[in-house]
This record gives sequence, C-alpha cells and structure tokens, in this order.
Amino acid sequence: MNAQNPTLALPGQPHVAYVNDQLMVESVRLSDLAREHGTPLFVYSKAAMLSALAAYQRGFVGRNAQICYAMKANSTLAVLQVFAEAGCGFDTVSGGELARVLAAGADPAKVIFSGVGKTRAEMKQALQVGIGCFNVESEAELDVLSDVAVGMGLKAPVSLRVNPNVDAKTHPYISTGLKGNKFGIAHEDALRSYRHAASLPGLQVVGIDCHIGSQITEATPYLDAMDRVLDLVADIEAAGIPIEHIDFGGGLGINYNGDTPPEADALWAQLLAKLDARGYGQRKIMIEPGRSLVGNAGVCLTEVLYLKPGEQKNFCIVDAAMNDLPRPAMYQAFHQIVPVQPRLANVGAADRVYDIVGPVCESGDWIGRDRALQVQAGDTLAVLSAGAYCMSMASNYNTRGRAAEILVDGHHAHLIRQRESAFDTFALEQLV
Ligand code: LLP
Repeated sequence: MNAQNPTLALPGQPHVAYVNDQLMVESVRLSDLAREHGTPLFVYSKAAMLSALAAYQRGFVGRNAQICYAMKANSTLAVLQVFAEAGCGFDTVSGGELARVLAAGADPAKVIFSGVGKTRAEMKQALQVGIGCFNVESEAELDVLSDVAVGMGLKAPVSLRVNPNVDAKTHPYISTGLKGNKFGIAHEDALRSYRHAASLPGLQVVGIDCHIGSQITEATPYLDAMDRVLDLVADIEAAGIPIEHIDFGGGLGINYNGDTPPEADALWAQLLAKLDARGYGQRKIMIEPGRSLVGNAGVCLTEVLYLKPGEQKNFCIVDAAMNDLPRPAMYQAFHQIVPVQPRLANVGAADRVYDIVGPVCESGDWIGRDRALQVQAGDTLAVLSAGAYCMSMASNYNTRGRAAEILVDGHHAHLIRQRESAFDTFALEQLV
C-alpha cells in the first residue's frame, strides 16, 4: 500500500481490497459503513456472490444442470434473492428455510429438501408448495413420507442420499460421507432402499444424491464419491428403477488461510470428464454448494474496545463475539483479521501479538489467536471470509442482539437486516 500501488487485493477475496489504504468492498469504504451502521456489521459483495456462481455456471455450459444454493450457509432474504434472480434453485433443511426461501422469491420446483429429521408437518408443507425433490436419508423416512403423500393424494418426488463412505479429509464436525456419520443410507443398503422406495404408493423415485463434507480442498474425494455413486446408479437402473438426476452435494472449500481448493469450473471439468467416460454425461446433474458461493463474499466489521496486555497473552477485546462468529469456537476455524484503516503513522513500528476475543463470558469466545496487529481502542477490524456459516449460525447468547447486514452492489450499500435490539431478543417471552 503506497502511492505507487494504491490498490491491494486480499488473497481469495477479489471484491475486498485496500484502495488508498482504505479497506473497500466493491466501491464502498468499510470505515464509512462502520460509522453509519455501527458494529458488529456484516458486509457482503453482490459481485463476489455472482462471480462465485458464474464459476459453477461456466463449468456446466452445455449440460443439463441445476445449482441449488445450500441456503444454510447464509439464509438472509436479500442473499437468497440474489441467487433466486440468478436462476438458482435451493437446498433447504427445514420448514423454516423453505418458508424463508419462498419469501425471497424462489421457484418451489427448484427447491430440494435435505436433512435426517424431517417432520410430518415439514413434509406436508413441502408437498403443498410443490417442491422439486425430497433428499431422503433413511428407510424409516421413506415410509413416513409415503404415508404423508398418500394422505394428501400426492406422490412425493424422492432421491435417496447415499453415504459413499469416502473421506473428505476435512474437520470431523463437517465431514459427512463416512460410515460413522449420521447422514445418508449406507452404500451397501442403497439398492434395497431403492427397491423399497419404488414399492411405496406415495413416492416417485427421481434421483440419487450424496454429500461428503464441507470445506473440501481436493478433487480426489469428489472423484471417488462419483465413482461410488455411479456404480449404484448402474445397479439401481438394472433393477428397473430409472434415475433422472444425480445430485453430487456441495462441500467445495474456500481460501481462509492459504487454502488452495480447486476453482468450481476446474473441479467440474474433471468430474464431467469422469461422467462422460462412464456414459452419464447427458444425465441431469444437481449440486448443492453453500460456502463456496458466499464465504469469501462477506466480512464482519468489529470495533476494538480494549487492549489488555498480559504476562502470557495480550488480548484485543472487540465488540463481535462467538454469538456473531461461532466458527472459531466450534471448529477452531481460522479467519483472517485485518484493520479497516491501517495505522500509517506507525508503519515500521513492531506489531504486537494478540488473541482477539469478544465480550461473551466464555474462554471459548475467541475470534483469532496469536495475531500480529497494530491496533488501538476505537479501531475497526475486518474479519474476513465471514459470508458463510456466520450470520446463519449467530445466536443471542448473553442477550446480544444479532448484527446488522449490508449488501454492497457497486457504489450502493443496502441495509438488508437491521441490528437486533435487546428488546427484540426477548419480545416473544412472557412473565408468569
Ligand atoms: N448439502 C448438504 C446436504 C449439506 O449438509 C451441506 C452442508 C451442504 C450441501 C453445503 O455444503 P458447503 O458447500 O457449504 O460445504 N457450519 C460448518 C459447515 C457445515 C456444513 C453442513 N452441511 C462450518 O461453518 O464450517
């Protein structure tokens, strides 16, 4: 950052950059947003979301493919609207998500419903609005879904989530395709489950799906899972049950800290070559990406409240906490943390190493550990790669209202969620 080089892009975040020593999202200064809206504040780039989506769309040119954004990654209405307007379908996991995505303008026929514990009420809700497919995760669920559909005089479109038993080589809490996970139907039981599904009066088998984990940074687990799934498709169709679509789930990772996942189009070039080689190239393909569409489109702004030097550790206490950014506490996840306006006057002065922590009363309430920073109380920091699984996992712990959210589109900054007040957090409660 200097007069000769006024723009400095941040690795992995093409729409977040320092311009003249001011951190910007697209053409909007983050220091201005923090001043106007307060902190903690999530700021998203619409262009970053659309360019992440475009990488998948490029990968699928000429194919019969449907991208279903896994909305659990970030389910804010305006974010869903961006993807709905771009033609996406959605992967939902609850009646709440279904109601939310329809409120954002989604086409129900492009919505799929995943998850191991769908209730009868949720099944009914999804059948009533005419969703595209239920991704069913157990034989017991097949029976209940058939029963619900028969009661409504309908046939539920179903895909069975099979567990290919491949190691996605990611954090154990976000690995889902191994035998010990609660997800999906075991590979060796899948044919029997398909026969059972085909025999039930309320079901129409339409597809097969899998999802092996999240934050996957290599192509190999996908290629292995694809082989396992295609073996099953051959067996199921040989048993007389046609499979219209194959859904390969989500899981592609992003660059948090020098991670080098394949680009979506490059990954799909490899996967489609395998599909073609095995004779399934013209089959309808579905995918359920979440993190890779939104993760690096968002930052969380937070103000430094206090510096607390100590014998063993220096603490930088900020106004965002584990209720806003739960990933470090839950998965020891790493997010880069950078100043919104670097302290130019001190250039050359030694950085101090801090643990960056929030105000919540838990030792687990940390956002970054051992970070070298030049900061003072009152500075604004940006926690990067905060577009996925942050706001959607935020809570009101310690009666902290959830943060506000901004969607930047070029020079425009739209407030897409107001900051929750303390009153909002207890508005549904009652004294006895
Ligand atoms: N499809 C299914 C069935 C899933 O379970 C998931 C994520 C996705 C798609 C989307 O996966 P993605 O493309 O986002 O990796 N909270 C954790 C991540 C949990 C992922 C759960 N399932 C985190 O913050 O790392």
